[in-house]
Amino acid sequence: MIKYYKWFDQTSMKKRFNVLVTRRLHRSALDALEKKCNVFLHSGKIPIPKKNLMNKIKNMDGLICHPYDRIDKEIINNAKNLQVISTFSVGFDHIDIEVAKTQGIKIGYTPEVLTNATAELAIGLILDVLRRISEGDRIIRNRKWKQIFGAYDYTGIEVSGKTIGIMGMGRIGKEVAKKANGLGMNVIYHNRKPVTKNVERMLRAKFVSENTLYKNSDIISLHVPYNKYTHHLMNSKIFKKMKKTSFLINTSRGKIVNEKQLVTALKTKEIQGAGMDVYESEPVHRDSLLLKLENVVLAPHVGSSTNETRQKMSDITVKNLVFALEGKKLLYSV
Ligand code: DGY
Repeated sequence: MIKYYKWFDQTSMKKRFNVLVTRRLHRSALDALEKKCNVFLHSGKIPIPKKNLMNKIKNMDGLICHPYDRIDKEIINNAKNLQVISTFSVGFDHIDIEVAKTQGIKIGYTPEVLTNATAELAIGLILDVLRRISEGDRIIRNRKWKQIFGAYDYTGIEVSGKTIGIMGMGRIGKEVAKKANGLGMNVIYHNRKPVTKNVERMLRAKFVSENTLYKNSDIISLHVPYNKYTHHLMNSKIFKKMKKTSFLINTSRGKIVNEKQLVTALKTKEIQGAGMDVYESEPVHRDSLLLKLENVVLAPHVGSSTNETRQKMSDITVKNLVFALEGKKLLYSV
């Protein structure tokens, strides 16, 4: 169901742009949008079903979407008036950027504001899986506390002194490095290009080859974007290279990891554990084998999900869209 707001700008009777919003944003952001545009807020099933999206996008000048909305060639080609796609996310792998750009459609996104929140979550997953916090929560809830009274019955692993291998030293990778420093970890990283020596010094991070990162890390944290080069970057071949005592943390995109092969690696103790916020298919299917593993911590794709960050993301998403429709420079464009 699409909720229809206002047709005319009552004060000026200027042409108002039609904008489809596929999911609720903060009220203040929607209010700002409604001042300038006719807002069609999708309020039914989410993500908005493709047929519905195809239909609604036809007369829209702008689209505000989320990572779960697939904005593919078919959708874009059906949107004859579309001038801008503004995504409520830093990732934009759900949008066919090439097709959109060929049609002259501008694309806005929300980097920077979610760097800290996502890095915090990566660190949270590291602490959780190494110190077995969620596992302990399950033990208490299942009334099994008495089974772990022995001195070595329920020990975790300290992060201090361990080596974290950061795959992808962009904004979030750098923030994870900073926070890992604070926890007393050694930082190594791999990136297409090393960062400057100054940044390396600041982050106390050492550039290594991809292979060295796999072999020498106690914890590998993924911070690369998803694309055809990173699809299933982490697979059984790589898990075999990793230390048997190592952990994999993924707050990036699910399809960067071959989940089936990860489950095998975790079951056969090729690696020790994993902390995940993103999955090959979201929401995670109730039959997913990941749910049966104790050595995995699962978060429901909440890297950016803090009050502070989500409010900023809503504001930027709306500003990107309005600026584009007004012919101004977007705050952040792809
Ligand atoms: C993003 O912004 O891409 C994050 O994954 C949150 O959805």
